[in-house]
Amino acid sequence: MPSGQPAAMERTYIMIKPDGVQRGLVGKIIKRFEQRGFRLVAMKMMQPGRPLLEEHYGDLKAKPFFPGLIDYMLSGPVVCMVWEGEEVVKIGRMMLGATKPIDSLPGTIRGDYCIVTGRNIVHGSDAVASAQKEIALWFKPEELVDYKLANHGWIYE
Ligand code: RTP
Ligand code: MG
Repeated sequence: MPSGQPAAMERTYIMIKPDGVQRGLVGKIIKRFEQRGFRLVAMKMMQPGRPLLEEHYGDLKAKPFFPGLIDYMLSGPVVCMVWEGEEVVKIGRMMLGATKPIDSLPGTIRGDYCIVTGRNIVHGSDAVASAQKEIALWFKPEELVDYKLANHGWIYE
């Protein structure tokens, strides 16, 4: 793990789902996190397999929509990212918008780009503890890059 991470800093796992990739929304989603001032720590594109996805969504195993969710997530490549910043877990979830696009406000990613829950284009960790678990599940420690943003002092006091 890289050192020098201030105590107040958090990391979150953001994943552009297969529909987000196929609909050409990768750049738009990355841009929103960059513009907010967060630091990109890691990024890769991959086609995840069933065991990885079943572990990622393990909490939802008993839900009736679980098989459909896994099939959806298996339907194409995803873009996996780690973003860092103060309160990034909570702010990231706000930027994504509500799980159900009908409840996602305009201005959020889901509120601007999708219509149904089963095609809601992006995942974001829901708590600091789940973020840590998800980052360790999707990335090797050496894939997390340690550097300081040149504009850090213009984003934080
Ligand atoms: P995510 O984990 O993907 O960021 O989504 P979330 O926290 O907003 O929602 P979660 O409850 O964790 O559900 C994970 C994903 O499962 C699909 N889902 N379908 N048909 C349904 O009622 C239903 N509920 C959830 C969505 O793709 C949701 O993002
Ligand atoms: Mg979730």
